[in-house]
This record gives sequence, structure tokens and C-alpha cells, in this order.
Amino acid sequence: MSEPAGAQPGAMWGGRFEGKADELFRAVNDSLGVDWELVQQDIRGSIAWAHAIGRAGVLNPDEVSKIESALRELAAEAASIAEPPLSSGAEDVHSWVEQELTRRLGPLGKKLHTGRSRNDQVATDLRLWAVEQCAARIVEVRALQRSLVTLGAKHAADPIPGYTHLQRAQPVTIGHWTLAYVEMLARDIERMEAARSMAARSPLGSAALAGTTFPVDRVALASGLGFAEPTRNSLDAVSDRDFALDLLHASSVCCMHLSRMAEEMIIFATGEFAFITLDDSVTSGSSLMPQKKNPDALELIRAGVGRALGGYTNLLTLLKGLTLAYNKDMQEDKPPVFDSMRRLSLLLRIAARVIDRTTFNVAACARAARGGHANSTELADYLVEKGIPFRDAHEVAGKLVREAIARDCSLEDLPLEVFRKHHAQIEKDVYARLTLDAVLARRDVLGGTAPARVKDAIAVWQRSLGGV
Ligand code: ARG
Repeated sequence: MSEPAGAQPGAMWGGRFEGKADELFRAVNDSLGVDWELVQQDIRGSIAWAHAIGRAGVLNPDEVSKIESALRELAAEAASIAEPPLSSGAEDVHSWVEQELTRRLGPLGKKLHTGRSRNDQVATDLRLWAVEQCAARIVEVRALQRSLVTLGAKHAADPIPGYTHLQRAQPVTIGHWTLAYVEMLARDIERMEAARSMAARSPLGSAALAGTTFPVDRVALASGLGFAEPTRNSLDAVSDRDFALDLLHASSVCCMHLSRMAEEMIIFATGEFAFITLDDSVTSGSSLMPQKKNPDALELIRAGVGRALGGYTNLLTLLKGLTLAYNKDMQEDKPPVFDSMRRLSLLLRIAARVIDRTTFNVAACARAARGGHANSTELADYLVEKGIPFRDAHEVAGKLVREAIARDCSLEDLPLEVFRKHHAQIEKDVYARLTLDAVLARRDVLGGTAPARVKDAIAVWQRSLGGV
């Protein structure tokens, strides 16, 4: 096998070149260090392509089967290579696969690239990768949902303050709180599914930009690779990275959800709140202050959205203003996409671990839920039931809160005559209405925090997640 005269050893495009590639050019241009991640997808796509050009009469059946078995061997070998094989000198993963195939099969290896371009090849590889990654993230999100449902089931009826503006608003149950995050994560799964279906279209056969000249069956190629359908326009197909943006969007939103949960848990774990105790295994100490137990895992989960959104901004910015069709700028799509998926995977897994090992301090949560006059809406509702317009009821309840603040007590500790001074229709039964249990139980609406509703919702989630 003769090396091309110029360019770089083993380059796929040496013929036209006399001069050698500059080493700095190679440093900026070579992508094997990054796109090694796609080696398995590249081989899968190559096997499918060999069959397609076989059916189109470019390769005979014997050649197809030789190429296929060599590629399968190569896939097994590649699976055991952890670091990108930079010493191979290959420019990118596509060149590496072809180089290795040719090393094994000689001239036959060089036939594989017939009718194909790295432009449709890389788009195919990245789409195959994206489809797999979405599926893997969905499994991880579901595992985190399972952890939250399990924790919620333990505390379906245990009260905790609910906040708006981070001021105590109305009590809810701990199970209700965990299920709020389960719902957010359910939407993340929908977004991942949408990203997956955007990715599941096959560009193979688009070639460099105008479509291949060989009569390949693009529909069969697509379904053979597990894609839903082939792309419809070759120019668009080789320059479309929207599916990668969708993945980064889904990842950013999911990281934002994790970040909100992490922030709440960080607050709950402070000495001032003391609603939860974090496990030693997911916290760290201070090198200076012996008493410290820092919520590092949660803080890093909170930080995760920066990377994900940075990746989204990176990719959207690099795509902006690109002319049709492929431009080398697009090689830079991979670092943000790879990094973001890797990080999201790690964050989802550590989040589940933190949740699995979190203990709620039920008494502290209940104490806080009882405080802050968070039952004052209930008092207003009580008056409404007596026929008083809500606006007036709100006013009366507000004045009674002021009385309670002045006496440094809770609403339910005010003597009956104080209640009656503010409204003659208030009677003794008001006390039963103001208890924490009554306040919770009355939120008995679909999606409400009444313990019975929360238990129902938990049962629904347990059934849909299985194995909780
Ligand atoms: N390494 C390239 C990438 O990731 C592969 C496509 C190269 N295509 C080309 N026409 N140079 O985008």
C-alpha cells in the first residue's frame, strides 16, 4: 500500500498535496483525541455502508463479508483501547477505522469509502451516539426518580414548610416535595425522548453534500442502523446539528432542575434549617475548621448547569452563520456535546446517591411547618365558609397574625376571645381547623398535598417506575 505523497501519513486526501501538513495545523485540525468516542458508531455505520454498496453492486458478497468480519474484529479491539490511539497518526476516528481496515485487508479496505464522505459519516456517527446517550440518560433519570419516590414514600404524610419567595407559605408533606422533583424529571425524560427522535434520522447516502452516485437503498440503510427514517435533503443532512443542540438543551434543563433541588437541599442541610442530614459519604470536611461538613456533592450538582448551558451556547454560536453544507467549524460540535452528556450522567448518578442517603429530621420539619403562621390561609378559608367574602376574611386573618406576632405565639395559641374580637363568627372549632394535620388534609385535590393524595401519587409513580 503506497502512502500519499503529501499531507500527513495515512491521510485520506493526500493525492492533491505535495507539501507536508504543518504540525500546528495538525494540532488544530486533528480530532482523533476527541472523536475516538465515536469509534463504535463509526464501525457500525461502516458495516451498514459495506452492505449498502454491496447491494448496489460495488462490492461482491465475499468482499462485504470480509469487510464486515474485519470491522467486527476491529470493534472488539477498539473496545479494549481506553485512550485515543494518537500514535497511529490518524487524523480522526474515520481515518483510523479505514487505516486499520486497510492494514488488515489491503486494497479491499480502500474500497469501503466508495460513494461515502466523512461528512455524511460523521453526521451518522454522532446521531447514532446521540440516540444511545438519550436512552442511557433516560435510564439514569428514572433511577433518580426512583430514589426520590422511595424517599417520598417514607415521608408521604410528614409535614415540612412549603415556601414561596423562600418565606414559609403553607405546609406541604415531604413526599409532596420529593414528587415535585419527580415531575420535573419526567419532563426531562420527555425532552430526552424528543431529542432522541430528532437524532434518529439517517444521513448516510448524502455523501459530501449532493447525494451519493451509487444506487444505495437509503431507507434500508436507515432502518438497518435503527434510525426511524433517512434524512430528506443531502445539503441539510451533512450540515444539520440541530439534534445535538436539542440534546444540549435537554441536558441544560435537566441540570437546571438538579441545580434547584441541590440548592434546596443545601439550605435544608444548614444548621439554621436542619431539615435534613446529609451522609458523610457525599460531603467533605474543612482543612481548617474541624466542625465543618460541607455539601460538596450538592454544590457541584448546583454548578452543573454552567457547563451544560456553556456547551449549548458554544454549539449554537458555532453553527450560527455557517453556509451550507459541511464546514470544518462543525468538528467543534463534539467537545461540548460529549462533555455535557458525560457530566449529566455523573450528576444524575451522584444525585441519586445523595437522595438515597439523605435523612429527613422529621421533628424539625414539622416544627418549622407549624411555625411562621403558615396556617393563616386556613383561617381565611374558615371565615369564607361562614359566608364572609374572601377579601374581608384575608384582612381578619392578617390582623390575627399581627396579634400572634405581638404575643410571640402561633395563631392556634390565641385565646378564643381574641379571635372573636376580630370576628364574632369565629368559634371554638377554629382550633381544630388550624392544626397541621387539618391544614394538610384539606388540600385534598388532584395534585394537592393532602397525605392521601400524596400516597396515591406515590403509588402511581411506583407502578410506572417499577421496582421501587
Ligand atoms: N473530523 C471531522 C468532523 O468531526 C470529520 C468530517 C471531516 N470532513 C471534511 N470534509 N473534512 O467534523
